[in-house]
Parts: sequence; C-alpha cells; structure tokens
Amino acid sequence: LVTRTDYTVLPSVLLAGPAGAGKTALTVLLERGGGTSLQAPTKISVPETRTSTKHHTIELSFSNTGENTSNDDVNDELNLHHRDTTHTRFLLRDTPGALNRRFLALDYISSSTVSTTGESAKLKAVVFVVDAAALGDDTTTVSGTSAVTIAAEYLYDVLVALQRRMNSKNTSKAPSAVSVLVVANKQDLFTALPANVVRASLEAELTRIRVSKSKGMLESGKGADDLGSDEQDSWLGSYGTEKFTFHQMREFDVEVDVVDGNVLGNAAAGSGVTSWWEWMISRL
Ligand code: GTP
Ligand code: MG
Repeated sequence: LVTRTDYTVLPSVLLAGPAGAGKTALTVLLERGGGTSLQAPTKISVPETRTSTKHHTIELSFSNTGENTSNDDVNDELNLHHRDTTHTRFLLRDTPGALNRRFLALDYISSSTVSTTGESAKLKAVVFVVDAAALGDDTTTVSGTSAVTIAAEYLYDVLVALQRRMNSKNTSKAPSAVSVLVVANKQDLFTALPANVVRASLEAELTRIRVSKSKGMLESGKGADDLGSDEQDSWLGSYGTEKFTFHQMREFDVEVDVVDGNVLGNAAAGSGVTSWWEWMISRL
C-alpha cells in the first residue's frame, strides 16, 4: 500500500496522442499491473473505454526488478518476494486526444513542475500513442484529414512544446531532459504498420508540416535571413534542414524512440506493452 505524501515531487510520464489511439486503454491496463513481464497474459482484456474529455492521473510503482507493483492482486509469494526490494513511484497522466482538449497535454509540458491538487510532478517522459492500423489505412479520415496528418499535427505541437521548454530562459535551473516514446499501438490488427514504417511516415509528414509553416512565415513578407528568434523558436528540429528526422530533437535534449506493441488482443499477435513499460521505467 502506498501512502500519499503530498510534498514529494514524483516523476511523471505524460500520455498524449490522437483520439482513439488507446491511451486510456493503456492506462487501465497498467493500473491493473499488466505491464509486468511476469504476468504477460495470452489474452488481455480491458473494458471498453470512451472518449476522454479530462486528464486522469494514476500512481504506479515498480520494484528494482522492473515489475509493475500497482496490482493489488499479486499473490502472497510475490509480496514476500517484494518485501526487500525498493519501489519507485511515478505518475502516469492520461490526457484526451480530441483537438479542442489537446491543450491539457501541451500545458503540462510547458510547466516544468506541475502542481495540482495533492500532486506534484516532474515530467520525465512523453508517451505519444498512435493507432498504427489507422495510419496504415488511407480511408481512415476525419473530415478529409488522414490519420497520419492528424497524428503528425499533434506530435508537431508536442515536440515544439518540448523544444520551447528546453529553450525557456525564465527558469533558473535547466529543465531536465524529457524522452519521447512514440507507441505504434494496435499491432494485433493485421493492417497495423510496423514501428519503422510509422517512424518514416511521421517524419515525412512532420517535414511537410514544417515546410508549410515556414512558407507561412516567409509569405508574411520576410526573407529566410530576416527570420527572427521567434520564427527560429517555432521551427521544429535543426534550423534550416530540408528533412525533419527525430534525431534532430537531440539538439534539444529530447530523445525519440518508436516502438510497436498492442494494448488489446492476443499477445501472440503483437508484442503487448512490456517493451513500453520497460522503456518508461528506464526513463524515470
Ligand atoms: P481519447 O480519450 O479519445 O483521446 O482516446 P484514447 O487514446 O484514450 O483511446 P482509448 O483508450 O479510449 O481506445 C480507443 C479504442 O481503441 C477502444 O475501443 C480500445 O478498446 C481500442 N484499442 C486500444 N488499444 C488497442 C489495441 O492494442 N488493439 C485494438 N485492436 N484495439 C485497441
Ligand atoms: Mg482516453
């Protein structure tokens, strides 16, 4: 049992990504202890989720053996086993992906230490969930906008917010590095794109968005050399490069990985959530 100590600053992981990607399903699964490799089930079942409108934070912990200890149902043998190990606690914040609710995740990134009712958190990582099956399907559109564009537009804002956070000079201490995990979810569906293809299509789409945003700046009457620091600040990645790659985020102390898996479905169909869980706890 975890006692709440309100004055402790816990490390936190932010879940973001477009609507319907599986953020809440992942939160529910981890809350039940599904992140542990010990329990990797053959059939994962998560109750039907519905579209989130608010953020929701859960507390998780893991032992130094990497096991998820949020599960209350762990058997006696496991409890005995855990008695001598140290537990690291952290917060996982699920946020809504709907266009008009994205500010909840973006605001969380801009504030370096977030303090809300009973909780104080230091952002360590962002897990950006995408529906890899929707990305692979050209017909998945919301009023004519493809799934990859919807995902990339949101990811663009998340990465720019992380860049700004690193560049912000109004804090005396340098903000701590934040890692990003792009999760290519729903690998149980046979139309899902694998992680390397998700990476390539997001990078291509982010490049396209960056080009169209910089055109907007140039069309406002300035030449490239006249762009001020404001424009440079809102340029994603290495300034002036032709093609955007996730590697460019290293300039801002932001490391980006793309890993596939699935929250639901037969574990044999995808790699489940184990590698995401391990990634998360290694970033705390
Ligand atoms: P918002 O709250 O609207 O931002 O969406 P969300 O990202 O929280 O999505 P949610 O977790 O509600 O999942 C959306 C739908 O995708 C639900 O019907 C889930 O059951 C389903 N889903 C989530 N993960 C998987 C998966 O790995 N495979 C499959 N097949 N379906 C999944
Ligand atoms: Mg949700």
